Amino acid sequence: MTGICRVHAREVLDSRGQPTVQVEVANSDGTSGSAIVPAGASTGKAEACELRDGDPRRYDGRGTLKAVANVNEVLAPAVMGLDATAQKDIDDLLCHLDGTPQKKNLGANAILGVSLAVAHAAAAACRLPLYRHLNQLWRGTAGGVPASISTDCRMPLPMTNMISGGLHAGGNLDFQDFLIMPAGAPSYREGLEWIVRVYRRLGALLAEAGYEGWLVGDEGGFGPRLPGNSVAAEFVIRAVEAASLRPGADVTLAVDVASSHFFDGTHYRLKATGDERLTSGQMIDKLAELVESFPVASIEDGLAEEDWRGWQEMTRRLGSKTQLVGDDLFATNPGRIRRGIELGVGNAVLIKVNQIGTLSEALQAMAVARSAGYRCVVSARSGETEDATIADLAVATAADQIKIGSIQRSERLAKYNRLLAIEEELAA
Ligand code: PGA
Ligand code: ZN
Repeated sequence: MTGICRVHAREVLDSRGQPTVQVEVANSDGTSGSAIVPAGASTGKAEACELRDGDPRRYDGRGTLKAVANVNEVLAPAVMGLDATAQKDIDDLLCHLDGTPQKKNLGANAILGVSLAVAHAAAAACRLPLYRHLNQLWRGTAGGVPASISTDCRMPLPMTNMISGGLHAGGNLDFQDFLIMPAGAPSYREGLEWIVRVYRRLGALLAEAGYEGWLVGDEGGFGPRLPGNSVAAEFVIRAVEAASLRPGADVTLAVDVASSHFFDGTHYRLKATGDERLTSGQMIDKLAELVESFPVASIEDGLAEEDWRGWQEMTRRLGSKTQLVGDDLFATNPGRIRRGIELGVGNAVLIKVNQIGTLSEALQAMAVARSAGYRCVVSARSGETEDATIADLAVATAADQIKIGSIQRSERLAKYNRLLAIEEELAA
């Protein structure tokens, strides 16, 4: 049996030039794996703790040397000699060593770095592509998932950012992402070509109309200062048509409202059209209008993370025809997802591994969601790196969709390109 013989963490930089944690895990048989932890900007309150140094002399306090030290001095000695394929046992141990529900002692960035690097090292030890190894872990987790849902590997549908707003583009628009899904594409590869075509047409249309159609936001989407949210949807639809594709048939729209960030506790404060103060009910009206006017197949965080009553109402009104995804709401947390299922809230879950902090818990979150018939959307963060683990994760768990950002910026393309390779392998 091969065991873990070396664990090493270092501070590296993400796509925003912010420090994050990279972890390398080596096995005694000479195989190894490594992973880099992503970071959000529009983070939810229920997310696991991202440990930052708080030392203003380095990276404005955002250094990750404490998290790195926690890996090298606390977590590394604890996992030494363990079998890397025992992912669940190792993740349980990591959680136990931290001892807090939100991983506030050691930091979810420290813990997730080890958790993901262990998975890579295990795949290497078993001579399996990562998605095959993750698929075995998924089969082990998905006990409660109805037999009608296949546990085979499957390519996810990309949900790709076209126009960025909110905290990802300097507050140009209230809603954070306007995205497309190539729902009618015969393959991932072909769908990706459609996406790129629409994106290019969109840039040209924006520039023609006098808006920013060149510079991009944190996730590679265009960040134009448009007069309102529905104008953004209009531009995307025009771009789909300009790409000779049919809106609603070939390509559907998705919106990540990320509304927690403009909810003041009682009202939704929209800035684009003056200072609108909307109640939950009025916000749902607005979203219903959007769904009526455009082929919007998915709405993420349409209401805020603590507005459970509003979410119930939104689900009653829109849930039968629209995918309603909880991001900040569920925070990839199995407990919050269970609560949502009980309350009849949403019908899909965004899965971001660093919101919960271990691979096993993320898999469990997906199993809970799937057992209740909720869809899963595996997602990147706005702060990403060359690490492409989520591409393998989405395939391994047969996630319905994958949300990586746009098709510019190499931290995004690392995942899109990894999926191209996986699709080829699955076909062979
Ligand atoms: P974040 O954005 O990584 O900044 O949280 C992604 C999202 O809201 O889906
Ligand atoms: Zn979101």
